[in-house]
Amino acid sequence: MDFAPRYAIVTGSDSGIGKATAVTLAAAGMDVGVTWLDDEEGAQGTAEEVRSHGRQAVVARLDVTRLEECGQIVDRMADELGGLDVFVNNAGTGDSAPILELSLEQWRHTMATNLDGAFVCMQHAARRMVAAGRGGRLIAVTSVHEHAPRVGSGAYTSSKHGLGGLVKQFALELGQYGITANAVAPGEIATPMTGQEDQDPRTQERPGVPLRRPGDAHEMAAVIAFLASPSSAYVTGASWVADGGMLLMGPHGGSHLESDAWREG
Ligand code: NAI
Repeated sequence: MDFAPRYAIVTGSDSGIGKATAVTLAAAGMDVGVTWLDDEEGAQGTAEEVRSHGRQAVVARLDVTRLEECGQIVDRMADELGGLDVFVNNAGTGDSAPILELSLEQWRHTMATNLDGAFVCMQHAARRMVAAGRGGRLIAVTSVHEHAPRVGSGAYTSSKHGLGGLVKQFALELGQYGITANAVAPGEIATPMTGQEDQDPRTQERPGVPLRRPGDAHEMAAVIAFLASPSSAYVTGASWVADGGMLLMGPHGGSHLESDAWREG
């Protein structure tokens, strides 16, 4: 099957990795659905950049914790675009509490955003792709915490592990339709989520990361764009870690940390 992606939706594309991804997919020739939760202006800015590449942009407010309606919003955007070849599940949120203090409310909010909402939106996107019979690409932005935990991020770690499993499940069941499903697992990236939106990550020192710096959103978008492209045809069920080597450092942490301070987060 020749896969020729024309229409993409990127959730949470008013800022950060989602915004960079929407613009990169437009540069690759796709019309793009842009979603926002509380920054409509940011989403309109993304849409402008998409249009500056000569592509169509459709903008919608999407709250993935509203499980009864978020799938319909994905469907509506796909209708407005005229189809759906690529769905990037980028929207996500974090939590910050030691596991003994994590409230059920915080847990539920993170799980609803990162896992329940992802399931509903990806399922709706996938059903359309199957019905259209043109193949497709499902891509979820997970995290290095899909693979390893972090102190104070119990729900985030659990939700991203779950999201990685969900991606594999889609890959397993949808390969027969020419639809691939992959995760991109970023390390520390300069975006609003890490409070580094306006910072050039190349000016920041991270001695504990082999590449010695945080990443930027465009470096994540480049990986996502490859996975969205016809060139990735034989990649499915993978989790592409894009972390400057951070995850390799476990054994060094194990033998080089000199105090118990890390236990406090
Ligand atoms: P960001 O804050 O720019 O983007 C998060 C996006 O998710 C925003 O557009 C926000 O509106 C959206 N969002 C949050 N809750 C939502 C909800 N209930 N419904 C719909 N949209 C919602 O930050 P960033 O870093 O670009 O985050 C994008 C993804 O990358 C997230 O899934 C995050 O977990 C992941 N990630 C980020 C890392 C980083 O260091 N910045 C590292 C690893 C993963």
